[in-house]
Amino acid sequence: MSKLQGKRAVVTGGCGGIGQAICRRFAAEGAAVVACDVANLDQTPPDGVTVQPLDVTDEAAVADFFAKQGADDAPLQILVNAAGIEIEKTVEDTTLEEWNRIFAINVTAMFLTVKYALPALRRAGEASVINFGSYDGFIADPHLAAYCATKGAVHALTRAMACDHGPEGIRVNAVCPGYIDTPMLQSFFQGAGDIESLQQAVRDVHPMRRYGTPEDIANLVNWLASDEARYASGQLWVLDGGLSAQVQQMRL
Ligand SMILES: NC(=O)c1ccc[n+]([C@@H]2O[C@H](COP(=O)([O-])OP(=O)(O)OC[C@H]3O[C@@H](n4cnc5c(N)ncnc54)[C@H](O)[C@@H]3O)[C@@H](O)[C@H]2O)c1
Repeated sequence: MSKLQGKRAVVTGGCGGIGQAICRRFAAEGAAVVACDVANLDQTPPDGVTVQPLDVTDEAAVADFFAKQGADDAPLQILVNAAGIEIEKTVEDTTLEEWNRIFAINVTAMFLTVKYALPALRRAGEASVINFGSYDGFIADPHLAAYCATKGAVHALTRAMACDHGPEGIRVNAVCPGYIDTPMLQSFFQGAGDIESLQQAVRDVHPMRRYGTPEDIANLVNWLASDEARYASGQLWVLDGGLSAQVQQMRL
């Protein structure tokens, strides 16, 4: 049987690389999905997915969106917070404006969506919130200072929300990917002089000798959203092809 039959889901960043794969998978599993984003809104979504413009940093828009989600007293079983940006800079090169912007999208937006989705999530009786952290919330990549800080904050917020809302039947988890082949990763590669060499070096440093696909991530998100994961909450689920398991010096 399909894992998400009859459930309703909202996916922020739903038109991005990982978000699209999650929406596709949720719809294939029988869910009715709303993909919210600020870009790539003209794509033709698969059956079961509706695309809706929503800037997750805009409190009034987020409040209005979730109020309308619940206008018919419909429950919301699944909320995925996949909207995010990356800024490839050290602290010294990052402006305060850039710092505030990345925190607004990667962290504060999560606070806003959960805050305003809670009435509809409670109505579901059992609900699952899945936030996007990163392996960069545990260990740092060079030149990603603000990004790493936002992902550490996402991990802490995920645990705090899981503690607060577990008694209401709401599970909260974070998925923490390593390198996943999406527009975000491609823009990271664009900064390199020799893109092919960098891509091969990135593959080689993984025990699995490849970086991940959005579908690899959607597999885990689909399980976390489903009733099979009914006892999973407050955890940071790293999915990185073994990247963060190894001692890097041993590969020299
Ligand atoms: N790709 C990776 O290697 C990787 C690794 C670790 C974590 N992640 C995380 O996974 C999540 C998805 O990343 P992705 O790789 O699919 O990136 P992506 O750039 O393909 O997608 C991100 C989406 O977020 C949307 N977005 C940005 N600002 C927004 C806003 N204000 N309101 C609504 N939507 C907004 C973008 O338009 C885009 O569609 C992000 O949180 C990212 O940090 C990605």
